[in-house]
Amino acid sequence: MEGSADTEEPPLLPLALSRFHISEEFGFLLPDPLTELPAPYSPWMDIARELPQLITSHQLRSRVHQMPQLSPQQLRGREELHLAHLVLSFITMGYVWQEGEEGTVQVLPRNLAVPFWEVSQALGLPPILSHADFVLANWRRKDPNGPLEIENLDTIITLPGGESLRGFILVTLLVEKAAVPGIKATTQALGATLQGDEESLHRALEELAGAIEAMREALRRMHDYVDPEIFYSVIRIFLSGWKDNPAMAHGLIYEGVSPEPLAFSGGSAAQSTVLHAFDELLGICHRQDCAAFLRRMREYMPPPHRAFVEQIRSAVSPRHLVLSSGDSRLRAAFNRCVSALAEFRSYHITIVTKYIAVAAAKAKARRAEPSARAGPAAGKPPSALEDKGTGGSHIFSFLKSIRDTTREGMISA
Ligand code: HEM
Repeated sequence: MEGSADTEEPPLLPLALSRFHISEEFGFLLPDPLTELPAPYSPWMDIARELPQLITSHQLRSRVHQMPQLSPQQLRGREELHLAHLVLSFITMGYVWQEGEEGTVQVLPRNLAVPFWEVSQALGLPPILSHADFVLANWRRKDPNGPLEIENLDTIITLPGGESLRGFILVTLLVEKAAVPGIKATTQALGATLQGDEESLHRALEELAGAIEAMREALRRMHDYVDPEIFYSVIRIFLSGWKDNPAMAHGLIYEGVSPEPLAFSGGSAAQSTVLHAFDELLGICHRQDCAAFLRRMREYMPPPHRAFVEQIRSAVSPRHLVLSSGDSRLRAAFNRCVSALAEFRSYHITIVTKYIAVAAAKAKARRAEPSARAGPAAGKPPSALEDKGTGGSHIFSFLKSIRDTTREGMISA
């Protein structure tokens, strides 16, 4: 097994994207991820490919119990490790949540826990499903030569939720893709700031604002592909973690790894590197509690991406050059970025209201109906995370605060 956590100190500036495992074409997405593991790992792949059926028929746990304990030693390179992490994280989420929030387990069996832990260690990722698995490493093109458009895309591994789950993953991927010119503009803006080059900084900020606006457009597509009821009642529970979650208040014992239960947050796009990078670039300061949550989410990013955010944080923010130049054109471009970021966050709140708050109210009404049965697959909606995100935040106070502190980042004349 080859570890790939990047421990080498990258150069200060200009930031070479490849040093941070960021692609010029795909940004933080893993470029054309592998879809098959080597033959010895077919017991994992066989289960992963059948996950939705195994979960809805309540057979996944017994299939996992029969699975041989495989060593990850024969996995080669970052691509195989990422696919192994994707596969084992999806199996783990299915295993834990198969019977809904009232039928969780306290122990992840050794044959799953030990290899999952080892693969996680090699990648520097937590042993739970993260945004890096769910979206960044979970896509393939139907036609390998075709475009990166939703019609030509599919997921590699899936869970219950059918077309809505597929849409949720792929629309999030499109938001990541729309961010790519903004990621490149980020490094250009830092270089221009260092050199005091106002013209280049202006160009970079305009490019960044355009990318954030395109991200918002991409986010709109959620409405076309994701049914709120399915998202709330079926999909969401499988993204939930075992930290700050009343349904798994004591965490999870990874058998053969630690005798004590471990607590990890579930998957959330709060773990996407994109907005962390843009916030740092623009010098946005969030309220202490919100900033602490977002900092914790960085621990769920691939270490090279986390290092990228830290490098931006330690560089001089373009905000200083904009302020010292007194140039109104530069200030307008900077403020266009901040405004686009606040708008993205406002629109995200609209989406979250539809997919969580409104959906939760409807689900609550349905739960009161006498026909409600147990288990996510049986259609009984979960209630433990009504007010909390899968990352464990108190959703609306958190999201609104983040949006408002973004707005405060505007530079006044
Ligand atoms: C149905 C769609 C979505 C829902 C219901 C949703 C829900 C949430 C929730 C509940 C949070 C709070 C943190 C937590 O505890 O998880 C959050 C945070 C966040 N989400 Fe989403 N989300 C959705 C789609 C997206 C997409 C497509 C993106 C873009 C990549 C995104 C980006 C973020 C970011 C960056 C945060 C951190 C807060 C911030 O920086 O503004 N979300 N989301």
